[in-house]
Amino acid sequence: MVGVSKKINVGMVGYKFMGKAHSHAYKDVGMFFDMDADVVMKAICGRDEEGVKAAAAKFGWESYETDWRKLVARDDIDFIDINAPSDAHKEIALEAIAAGKHVFCEKPLALNLSDAREMLDAAEKAGVKHGICFNYRFLPAVQLAKSIIDSGKLGEIHHYRATYLQDWLVDPETPLAWRLKKEVAGSGAHGDINAHSIDLARFLIGEFDRVVGHNRTFVKERPIPVSTSGLSGVGSSEKGEVTVDDATAFLADFKNGAMGIFVASRFATGRKNANTFEIHGSKGTIRWDLERLNELEVYFREDEPELAGFRRILATEPQHKYAGNWWPTGHIIGYEHGFVHIVYEFVQHIAANSPFAPTFLDGVRCQEVLEAVDLSIERGTWVSVEEV
Ligand SMILES: NC(=O)c1ccc[n+]([C@@H]2O[C@H](COP(=O)([O-])OP(=O)(O)OC[C@H]3O[C@@H](n4cnc5c(N)ncnc54)[C@H](O)[C@@H]3O)[C@@H](O)[C@H]2O)c1
Repeated sequence: MVGVSKKINVGMVGYKFMGKAHSHAYKDVGMFFDMDADVVMKAICGRDEEGVKAAAAKFGWESYETDWRKLVARDDIDFIDINAPSDAHKEIALEAIAAGKHVFCEKPLALNLSDAREMLDAAEKAGVKHGICFNYRFLPAVQLAKSIIDSGKLGEIHHYRATYLQDWLVDPETPLAWRLKKEVAGSGAHGDINAHSIDLARFLIGEFDRVVGHNRTFVKERPIPVSTSGLSGVGSSEKGEVTVDDATAFLADFKNGAMGIFVASRFATGRKNANTFEIHGSKGTIRWDLERLNELEVYFREDEPELAGFRRILATEPQHKYAGNWWPTGHIIGYEHGFVHIVYEFVQHIAANSPFAPTFLDGVRCQEVLEAVDLSIERGTWVSVEEV
């Protein structure tokens, strides 16, 4: 296993959406956070030489590879960061773990629960550090929500309501990207964006007990892409089958007795990235929306009746976790900062052996809920999460 040194060398697979977000995080982290080791952007990997070479130069990586096996085998790499689509996660992670590397992997952890469990098992047996990129946990307002709940200020939790709404598929001519193929993505809106909502719910209020869901694929065939860029692309005149859900909604019971409602859709016209939660407790309520990510709305029953109402907290004070590392109060941060914070925690985890979550275990727990929902849809009935 790789020993902790003053420098931590990263090797990263993938250079598009998440590849860019993670590269930015590695570049910025040392400038804003005091770290026990320097992060060195050693090598980036992609299959297209011209593309990966350009990305390496633009994002600031020292070198590049076109075969992830070569990247994983390199002696000068301490940890592998996986930003390829879900079908590639397991193979890359297992080989990296076998080579003694620590692994940081994008969500969902794998194509399915059994692959996710195999990855967790291998990482635990090898004793390497492992992490999954549930980045939304690491925003100051979400951290504030967590500390309010943990302090008991919301009391007993009754309701958890989450949405993750996008509209990039409402146009039937949007091409058949990899996110719409079950064999590459695992599932559609469910594994892609419900996965984030499930993780936030576990982080904030605890484990799921049972679930029941339904889903829909509104457009069953789409143009085969000629090229893709981010979530969009250019389609050809030929069509292919969509093999994942466009939307999945489910009800949940939590182990603490709370009731949950979750809705994930890529057909929510007008909603661009509405990752939200609203939590009602016996003493108060909190609500959050990614599209206003610095703000947390809170309501406390103990307020005097004539003054009671929702208040909006701007989570940019030095007392708010991570906020003090950035700008003066009120100088808001954005989507990309969550990645800087999670990368900071993961690198510190390697360098200083500091505690870290979410790990592959959280990836597995999330995947258990995803699969329990799918099983409930197949059966048309409630399914206990422990059953999967
Ligand atoms: N944490 C988040 O909020 C978030 C957001 C978007 C995507 N994701 C996850 O990140 C992962 C990547 O998604 P994306 O949006 O960046 O996809 P993308 O299509 O933008 O990029 C995928 C990258 O992987 C590379 N790739 C694919 N197969 C490869 C292989 N065999 N070897 C080497 N490189 C390979 C591609 O060349 C490309 O650079 C997925 O697991 C996705 O679910 C997470």
